Amino acid sequence: MTIAIYPGSFDPITNGHFDVLYRASKLFEKVIVVVLLNAAKKSFISVENRIELIKESVKDIKNIEVDSFEGLTVKYAKSKNAKVLIRGLRATSDFEYEMQMAQINKTLDANLETIFLVPGVENNFLASSIVKEVALFGGDISGLVPESVNKYFKTLVK
Ligand code: PNS
Repeated sequence: MTIAIYPGSFDPITNGHFDVLYRASKLFEKVIVVVLLNAAKKSFISVENRIELIKESVKDIKNIEVDSFEGLTVKYAKSKNAKVLIRGLRATSDFEYEMQMAQINKTLDANLETIFLVPGVENNFLASSIVKEVALFGGDISGLVPESVNKYFKTLVK
């Protein structure tokens, strides 16, 4: 069985992440979405809540699991016997960061292959940071995120 992991901050999961995840679920027998720490980012939503929001949004897709991990992505991949690491690639602005991460991960574990998936054009400019900003200023994010995330922000911003 080919197991793929899809690591990220998911603070929160957006329709862009979901798009990539859905595509991955059609390519691999099992996909594990894993919430990891990005040392360069201060997270807004707790890991437990991020997991719940992801679980709720993927509940109808049978071959997706959701997990969290503290440490190196390559270590997590090895512990799950995953051979593929999925990342989404949107605009060219993602490229340098994604390439750097892929190269570092390859240096750490030459057997783990990073595969980039491109979301549909309607999700190409979505980012968790933008979604959070719009939601926290009371804007409508219903078309940008799974329903679980939309509901979550509605409980925060009355
Ligand atoms: O959604 P993000 O914030 O772009 O995801 C980045 C993430 C969490 C996948 C990356 O920071 C990561 O892999 N963190 C775990 C620590 C690690 O393995 N670092 C080396 C590769 S950058």
